[in-house]
Amino acid sequence: MKDYREVLKSFESIAGPIKPHAEVLRRYAENLKEWDELLVKVFYDTLFSYGTSASIFREGERTEREVALKMWYRRVVSGEWDESFWEWQFRKVGFAHVIRGIPNEFILSAMSLLQRTFLEKALQEFPVEEAVRVYTAFKHITDAVATLMAAGYMYCYLEALSESTGMPPALIERHAVLLARRIYEEI
Ligand code: HEM
Repeated sequence: MKDYREVLKSFESIAGPIKPHAEVLRRYAENLKEWDELLVKVFYDTLFSYGTSASIFREGERTEREVALKMWYRRVVSGEWDESFWEWQFRKVGFAHVIRGIPNEFILSAMSLLQRTFLEKALQEFPVEEAVRVYTAFKHITDAVATLMAAGYMYCYLEALSESTGMPPALIERHAVLLARRIYEEI
């Protein structure tokens, strides 16, 4: 399994460093934490209104999910991101969704919804320049989390396939290349 630090290093090298965004969010944290109720409501109203994502949840699970997401959001906007924060994103938040069979397209779409809702709220609450600064910081950190979750999902499947078939990951990757080439050349 790839180490989450490697994934983060790639993210920062390509998307840009994370630290400056932590400083921005820290300045606004107390205010931003108050948006938890709204963001979590939009998030779960949407996931529960689409049959395919709604069917993932167990009977009576919504309250528990809302509490977990609020806690996650408040920690994200605190701008306090140490090693334990990143490890939590990769090993707990990411893998909790693999365990429940939630594919990357759901996670990335849900993150996009969260980011857009945050932007709309920021534009209501702050002058445009400030709203853009706060949103850019929120987008960067949540893009980093989404990247860790998506990478963990893929590496978990790769490793599971390797363990169950005895095929080394490099051979599976080779097969994926062949399959991708076939699909690419079909049209
Ligand atoms: C922006 C994307 C998402 C974030 C940030 C997020 C956040 C979280 C967090 C913080 C937890 C608790 C993890 C832990 O055990 O520490 C969790 C669990 C869970 N999430 Fe999400 N989530 C996201 C997307 C989704 C989507 C799209 C679905 C379903 C369609 C979903 C369904 C669940 C379920 C069912 C659990 C419980 C896992 C378990 O059995 O413990 N999440 N999520």
